[in-house]
Amino acid sequence: MRSRYRSFAKLNLHLQVVGRRRDGYHELRTLFQTIDLHDLVTVEPAVRGVELTTSGLELPSASDNLASRAAAAYFERWPAGAGVRLHLEKRIPVGGGLGGGSSNAATVLLALRERFGAPAAVAELWPVARALGADVPYFLVGGSALGFGRGDEVVAIPDLAEQELHVAVPAVAVSTAAVFAALPESPEAPLAASLLALAAGWAPPSLAGLELWNDLQPTVLASVPEVNAVYTALLRSGAVGVRLSGSGGCLFARLPAGAQAEIAQRLPAGTGLLATRTLGRLEVAARRTVA
Ligand code: C5P
Repeated sequence: MRSRYRSFAKLNLHLQVVGRRRDGYHELRTLFQTIDLHDLVTVEPAVRGVELTTSGLELPSASDNLASRAAAAYFERWPAGAGVRLHLEKRIPVGGGLGGGSSNAATVLLALRERFGAPAAVAELWPVARALGADVPYFLVGGSALGFGRGDEVVAIPDLAEQELHVAVPAVAVSTAAVFAALPESPEAPLAASLLALAAGWAPPSLAGLELWNDLQPTVLASVPEVNAVYTALLRSGAVGVRLSGSGGCLFARLPAGAQAEIAQRLPAGTGLLATRTLGRLEVAARRTVA
């Protein structure tokens, strides 16, 4: 029997890079937030192997997809004497900084655990998730969460107040590795005061009360003209709190009520503008399985 799951996207509401690590990665302090934009992942047990088909947005390479790699890693760690057929209906922009591939990988791990009854505790999926990618562990948790280390040391915090946000999708995919490689060396900065306060249990009444930034944003705006053009157009059209998510190229913002259609027309040709809202952890869990 096949099962379908929603695989939600994330935003990095805040992202600080605090240094380069010996393993080649960068040390991060980030605030992750799930949004209701999602892919659909269909999981159907098969006799053996891992098969993947896709529909919707085009993917660069199906053979190296993180969802199939997640399934292969799962069976290697918990041999089930079976295989799986996966179908990915892709709606989350690729190369957008919204974590679509990482979310798909975590969704597959959770689905296979549900289907095959191993491991006993979700926490045991953690090392497998970490090995797949820095953002994958966050998607085992969802909601509002802080990320440390490579972004894979995740601490869940009380969910932030629900917020409607718009996500602008420039007509370009941005390579995360290229953005990190182009980052200038910067002096170590203290942890942002708002992150410290969140870690201590502070619950701001709205996202507007949070001090948000993204240390990758200046590099992306300087090196990817398509993203810069969307950023400038959003600012000029009255959008508030415009920020890059992750390594981009997607930007999120708060738009004046009822202004979406007019603002969409002012963005560079080919830019998408998606209305979305933040999702709390319980809602993510409740909506994961498609009835
Ligand atoms: O872990 P993931 O495959 O998503 O990361 C993609 C690339 O982004 C890494 O190979 C690395 O070059 C860069 N990266 C980094 N520091 C991080 C996360 C990613 O330098 N914390």
